[in-house]
Amino acid sequence: MEFIHLIREKQAELIRLYHLEETQKGMGVMVFRKDKTDNAQVIYYPLENITSTYIVQRLRAMVLAMEGKLELKLEHRLIITLPQFEDLPEGLEIPKVMYFCIMDGADGRLFQLIPQTTKVEDKTWYYYQMIADPTIEEMNKEHVSNKDTWTVGPTENGKWFKQTCLLALSNDILFKTFRSAREFREIIGNENEAYGKQIVTDCDLSILGDIRNYKYLDEIGGPIRYYYSEIDCELSPTTLRYMNTVLDVTKHFTELDDKRIIEIGGGYGGLCSVLSQIIEYKKYTFVEIEPVIGLAKRYLNEINKENEEIDLVVPEQIPEDVEWDLLISEYAFCELNEEGIEFYLKHIFPRVKNCYLGMNVWEEVRKTQILKRLEELFTTVTEHKVTPEHPEWKRYILVCKR
Ligand SMILES: C[S@@+](CC[C@H](N)C(=O)[O-])C[C@H]1O[C@@H](n2cnc3c(N)ncnc32)[C@H](O)[C@@H]1O
Repeated sequence: MEFIHLIREKQAELIRLYHLEETQKGMGVMVFRKDKTDNAQVIYYPLENITSTYIVQRLRAMVLAMEGKLELKLEHRLIITLPQFEDLPEGLEIPKVMYFCIMDGADGRLFQLIPQTTKVEDKTWYYYQMIADPTIEEMNKEHVSNKDTWTVGPTENGKWFKQTCLLALSNDILFKTFRSAREFREIIGNENEAYGKQIVTDCDLSILGDIRNYKYLDEIGGPIRYYYSEIDCELSPTTLRYMNTVLDVTKHFTELDDKRIIEIGGGYGGLCSVLSQIIEYKKYTFVEIEPVIGLAKRYLNEINKENEEIDLVVPEQIPEDVEWDLLISEYAFCELNEEGIEFYLKHIFPRVKNCYLGMNVWEEVRKTQILKRLEELFTTVTEHKVTPEHPEWKRYILVCKR
């Protein structure tokens, strides 16, 4: 792997960095990968933040092997010996074991680095042996799993969105700015200043209480914000979109306090955080896929909204014996493929009383199919305009009631 020579060259620096990260964040994996511009990047993922089951399983197996509980078979494994230090460079402490994942384009390989010493002419030399399992795995594959039913998931935009979420959830610096990252905004947050202006001009946001109470939602994740004189407040157009949605939801459904809400595809938690400002729901089931769910957890935690009332789950973990008063999905349910749509229509929709669905462009046949299914489940299904409408987006709302 072409990264190996870099690791050889930078061995001491990498050990230092790993040690520092491990001391601060606990055990984890250092990932060495190429970024979009072909530069090498080093990222540390604390074990608890690693959502990839493959990596976690491998790590557990390796830890067990280290403890002697599992036989470590070396014969089929790749072993690379890194250069030896005669004297350890100043201040360099050798961690007991390091975990390293090297990602080169599509392929990834998880290594365990085992410290070794050897005596040469009465001098002690130190070095690492990198041992890799023969299975070549792409760390990304775990996130773009076969079960991915999001039509955008396999596209370039979808992949970069997930990658950005993954990096932001485990890297403090990237977390500070993820909402203004281009890769993230391709999916969430590409509303511009003018669209925000339309909302503050056309909608009576004061119904949602003191607008300044929403400002802190934009203090996390570094979105691009604008000052709007109409509301005398600086906010991101995306938060304004969510405020507008909440306003609309509360027009269609008046009594939501003490009710159970489920949101499908809530992104980083923007709508949930706005809605939580004015509605005292009983329970909010927040459904997202990995690694976006991890980012939402972190965002909601940082704005102090992650509490017992919010249950963050991936689709497979949606509780079985629960019913909800309202299902909300803004431009997420409608972006699923047939299998994804079917999953929700079959397993979740029959357990909800009402729905508020933000819909993207639909081909007529597909739209008719979905409407038919919804009409079988609900007494009324009505279509509404999105106001204000974004000049480029063709969207509509479906409100379903039993
Ligand atoms: C266009 S984004 C909309 C995000 C957010 N609702 C908004 O309006 O800003 C679609 C979202 O659906 C999520 N998603 C994809 N597949 C999903 C699934 N099977 N279940 C739940 N959410 C899913 C994606 O991760 C993404 O965050």
